[in-house]
Amino acid sequence: TTRLANFLKARIRTVPDWPIAGVNFRDVTTLFNDPEAFRVMIEAFSLDCTQLGVDVIAAIDARGFIIGGALSYQLHKPFVLVRKKGKLPYTTHTEDYALEYGTASIQINTDACAPGQRVLLVDDLIATGGTLLAAAKLFAKVEAEVVGVAAIIDLPELGGSAKLREAGLPVHSLCSFS
Ligand code: PRP
Ligand code: HPA
Repeated sequence: TTRLANFLKARIRTVPDWPIAGVNFRDVTTLFNDPEAFRVMIEAFSLDCTQLGVDVIAAIDARGFIIGGALSYQLHKPFVLVRKKGKLPYTTHTEDYALEYGTASIQINTDACAPGQRVLLVDDLIATGGTLLAAAKLFAKVEAEVVGVAAIIDLPELGGSAKLREAGLPVHSLCSFS
């Protein structure tokens, strides 16, 4: 592991048995509370974006918005919201997906981005990968090109990052927990 990964991991709170028994919940609020940690995360993602030639930053409701918003501001790139179902007032595309615990649906506006635009998908954490895979399907519906997915944390044992790579999506995570 890198120094960056160790720096971040030391600043992530782990809450045992939340939201259900047996889950070690990785709580990123402690990273957002730490201005130095927040800055190094945005700097790291900015570098990935520049290398990938990203046109649009898209982030997942809710914690992804915090990272994606800062990244979009830093890079002067458009920001797209991938929202939980029922929150967007305009016409939408919808994808249903399975979560680590439960099911959900996400949506984007039908005019979220233009065909051919290069999109980076951002979230706080990859568990089963279901959320980011569903988000990638939403952008396929508007004929945008998802050029990568970025997350602070990967949980590789849940298989999500492997599944995303198998789907042809390069994964950029800053640290992982086993
Ligand atoms: C969490 C997390 C990711 C997703 C990861 O969000 O922020 O979006 O689950 O799980 P997956 O890789 O198995 O799809 P959650 O659904 O808890 O929503 P929240 O941000 O609104 O709390
Ligand atoms: N932390 C935050 N979000 C999550 C987690 C976790 O450990 N597992 C699934 N979504």
